[in-house]
Amino acid sequence: MSLDQNLDKILIIDFGSQFTQLIARRIRELGIFCEIISHKKIKIFDISKSVKGIILSGGPLNVDQINKYSFDKKILELNLPVLGICFGHQILSKLSGGKVKQSKHREFGLANIHKKNNSLLTSNFFGTKKSKEVWMSHADQVSKLPRNFKVIASSTNSKFAIVENSKKKFYGVQFHPEVTHTENGKKLLSNFIFLICKIKKNWSSKDQKIKLINDVQHQVGTNKVICALSGGVDSSVVAQLLNKAIGKKLYCIFVNTGLLRKNEETQVIKTFKKRLKMNLIYVNAEKEFLNKLKNVSDPEKKRKIIGNLFIKIFERYSKKIKDVKFLAQGTLYPDLIESKSVTGSQTSKIKSHHNVGGLPKKMNLKLVEPLKFLFKDEVRKLGLELKLSKEIISRHPFPGPGLAIRMPGIITNEKIKILKEADYYFIQALRDHGLYDKIWQAYAALLPVKTVGVMGDNRTYEYLCLLRAITSEDGMTADFYEFKKSFMQIISNKIVNSIRGINRVVYDITSKPPSTIELE
Ligand code: XMP
Repeated sequence: MSLDQNLDKILIIDFGSQFTQLIARRIRELGIFCEIISHKKIKIFDISKSVKGIILSGGPLNVDQINKYSFDKKILELNLPVLGICFGHQILSKLSGGKVKQSKHREFGLANIHKKNNSLLTSNFFGTKKSKEVWMSHADQVSKLPRNFKVIASSTNSKFAIVENSKKKFYGVQFHPEVTHTENGKKLLSNFIFLICKIKKNWSSKDQKIKLINDVQHQVGTNKVICALSGGVDSSVVAQLLNKAIGKKLYCIFVNTGLLRKNEETQVIKTFKKRLKMNLIYVNAEKEFLNKLKNVSDPEKKRKIIGNLFIKIFERYSKKIKDVKFLAQGTLYPDLIESKSVTGSQTSKIKSHHNVGGLPKKMNLKLVEPLKFLFKDEVRKLGLELKLSKEIISRHPFPGPGLAIRMPGIITNEKIKILKEADYYFIQALRDHGLYDKIWQAYAALLPVKTVGVMGDNRTYEYLCLLRAITSEDGMTADFYEFKKSFMQIISNKIVNSIRGINRVVYDITSKPPSTIELE
């Protein structure tokens, strides 16, 4: 699976780390094109002239599990610069003649590394203190360096925290420079790319726009495409991209599942049909969705039902438009990573995101997923490049299954009505207090629990409303947002006083991991 054969690039060989996609993201942020490929799939002849450097990712394996069938060692004989990260560092050392064994002390979390020698990789990285805080996550470590390697930095538990063979341009780091917890980590990646691989910047939103428009034109030819428009950032960007690429051959289908946010359908029609003048087909499928979801409380079942019904409706409407061959979706990179590794490596399944896991195997439409290699922030930048309004671009993400997964337990009309109001007041309050753009995603959820309250002289017995607001870079990890008490009081009063059915508000203070952003 290759995005582009000709662009100069960094190739990331994935050994199954949850952070592999972050490495890619950091490199793209530095303005360089990169691709990820599984260690099992990469063969030496896949490595074209446009590859200017190789990064070996971390992963859950140990070095003895890698044999000639699962990684072609000849890749290290191509005279290309190589950076091994965590497991990548261990396998690079092992294949170069060093030894790896289980560490006496596993290192997870922050550790201090201290400079031992100069290296191009660490130019302007350490600063005057000659030490840096880095993020470690490993149980094994290099115990003996290969010949012609030297130590650049060590931590208390990892003698070989950074190593190099400058002649071969092989570098290894035991920690994760790609995660934000590693102080100045991006500088290491930047040094590898610019000073060692000597690659020139070639990846910007403008480059992406041109390339993606060309790709779409190439993929769909003169055929018609229907687009699953939800009004969220991803599908809006897809729609606008296709609008630019194929104009009126694009038919946007907007399905009202009955599980959308308050007034969402009106806003979508106003923006896309009236302002952007796209072919927009509005389908009110509220009853159909709610019927199918009746008495269903299992989260995965909800997702599957919603995903399948979505596709059925698209197919139904696509048949009404003659000669439709393609269905466009706003699938993003993180959607693919968490459901099924895009690269074939061993990341575990966490949730079946509806636009991936829910797809029926036998689909009559081919997929157009132009954003599937992009991260959310790349999509936002692309959206601006495509001249979508800032209001659309800065909207918080909203999951395909909508309010269904913010309402653990069974779904009823009454609960939907209550939840739409609570969410509306919460989001409105965030906007009114200038907090909306500081938060990556926020929502209200309705828990399937009733608790006792007292209002006036009366006892109430009503639902519990949970508020969630998180900061994140890409939805893969997240932290809860710290509101001031005064704001929490305002929103809790507003919800309890305005909505019949809720008499208690709680705030979710878990990060991701261990929780996920959505409740189901
Ligand atoms: P989780 O709950 O997995 O959410 O931490 C990460 C991000 O993904 C969104 N999300 C979904 N988006 N279909 C989507 O299109 C889905 O099934 C789905 N589930 C979660 C979630 O809102 C958050 O932004």
